[in-house]
Amino acid sequence: MKIAFAKSELPSAGTIVVGVLEEHRLTPTAQQLDKLTKGAIGRALSVGRFKGRPDEQLAILAPPGIEAARILLIGLGKADSLDAATLLAIGGRIAAALNGAGEHAGSVAVDEIPGARIGTGEMAANLAQGARLRAYRFDKYRTREKPEQKQTLKRLTFMLEDHAAAKKAFDPLEKIAEGVALTRDLVSEPPNVIYPVTLAERAKKLADLGVQVEVLGEKQMKKLGMGALLGVGQGSAQESQLVVMQWRGASDAKQRPVAFVGKGITFDTGGISIKPAQGMEDMKWDMAGAGTVIGLMHALAARKAKVNAIGIVAAAENMPSGTAQRPGDIVTSMSGQTIEVINTDAEGRLVLADALWYCQEQFKPQAIVDLATLTGAVIVALGTVYGGLFSNNDTLAERLAAAGKATGELLWRLPLADAYDKQINSDAADMKNVGGRNGGSITAAQFIQRFIKDTPWAHLDIAGVAWSDKDAPAIPKGATAFGVRLLERLVADHYEER
Ligand code: BES
Ligand code: MN
Ligand code: ZN
Repeated sequence: MKIAFAKSELPSAGTIVVGVLEEHRLTPTAQQLDKLTKGAIGRALSVGRFKGRPDEQLAILAPPGIEAARILLIGLGKADSLDAATLLAIGGRIAAALNGAGEHAGSVAVDEIPGARIGTGEMAANLAQGARLRAYRFDKYRTREKPEQKQTLKRLTFMLEDHAAAKKAFDPLEKIAEGVALTRDLVSEPPNVIYPVTLAERAKKLADLGVQVEVLGEKQMKKLGMGALLGVGQGSAQESQLVVMQWRGASDAKQRPVAFVGKGITFDTGGISIKPAQGMEDMKWDMAGAGTVIGLMHALAARKAKVNAIGIVAAAENMPSGTAQRPGDIVTSMSGQTIEVINTDAEGRLVLADALWYCQEQFKPQAIVDLATLTGAVIVALGTVYGGLFSNNDTLAERLAAAGKATGELLWRLPLADAYDKQINSDAADMKNVGGRNGGSITAAQFIQRFIKDTPWAHLDIAGVAWSDKDAPAIPKGATAFGVRLLERLVADHYEER
């Protein structure tokens, strides 16, 4: 789908999309069309239930008096609540509606809205990003496509006076959308295609954007003493990898970087503590944290963010075999702390322990955020709406929650406390890798915190939000890439040079 920005002009074919505010208040272009069609819009509004709320739309087919094949009325809601997130959703709904109708070309009239806090350029850019995000498909393995599943929309034009401003505002948003698409691709790929080595290879492609990418194999990790990470992958025929990505975009070369660390379990069988067969295929997306870190690094580098950022991916495959780690094994992490592995299915925290330690030793980051599909318990607590947020730093936690609100990638903070930390004390080693049934997401976070020095740190448990079985306005069902837009926003608002 091609996206363009141009001056307003009534299209001679395709669909013209115009906004209607709540309570049937027509935007200027809608009024103009109503006149040209001798009141077709007014008549359509009087017979339907469409009110102009942001989740509503109404198509008028073959309208008289104009050449376009269809008018799509799109609800904008209240003028003063029009913001970037709302427009993103509306843009997504426009793309879905046009594709659903089998349309090839759409022209969206972006009118100035009195009382809105957002100008037409920003409005158009956010609508366009939403359309781009919703039009994503992962269909490379479909060889026999049903016609109705095809994306018919080839061209979407946003029409406004200041189309140059829109183009300029869209430029970074398009780069971010590319990052989101990369993450969705990586997370959607099956586990026979994406395993640690191939995940690392995909990350290496970021070199084209100026990202330095280094990959540590098992030999190097062994030298570094990463017994926790290596234990997880030792039952697999696939070699574990630690991928280290550096984007040095700050003009001040000494700016301490902000770091992102992702859980990259390319398939989680549970290991010897094996998972039940039902639903195990979902565990291909146990590398969603890693996929998000890679997509985020793409977004930052592609839009040349003025920031120093580190992305680390801890990639391993958790398999049962004759060489697999056993329940009861004690491993020594890079930090020197020993861990009794009670349950080999609590593997995410083990790979993160070494990746986080390495990150702090190597880069002394000013802040560190890890992302992981870490616990089923966070789904019990928060469902599939909010991701779980844990942090040792109130400022960082507040920044993340705010970036979540702004991007619609919502986070809810859960507690950390010594009393929970006690649950992972072990009789045999410094700690054990599970803390019992109660507070499972919290004890997992406590475990990770034992590998954080005094760096401001946040842990995002994205087990419930990394994948969705239903379409959302700007996210088709499947891999959501939760965290890419959120963390991009965090960087833009707080860590980037101005
Ligand atoms: N990858 C899973 C967590 C998960 C579960 C993600 C469901 C998405 C959907 C993780 O490695 C895991 O197995 N966690 C265990 C921990 C337990 C053994 C302490 C869990 O949540 O059951
Ligand atoms: Mn597991
Ligand atoms: Zn896992």
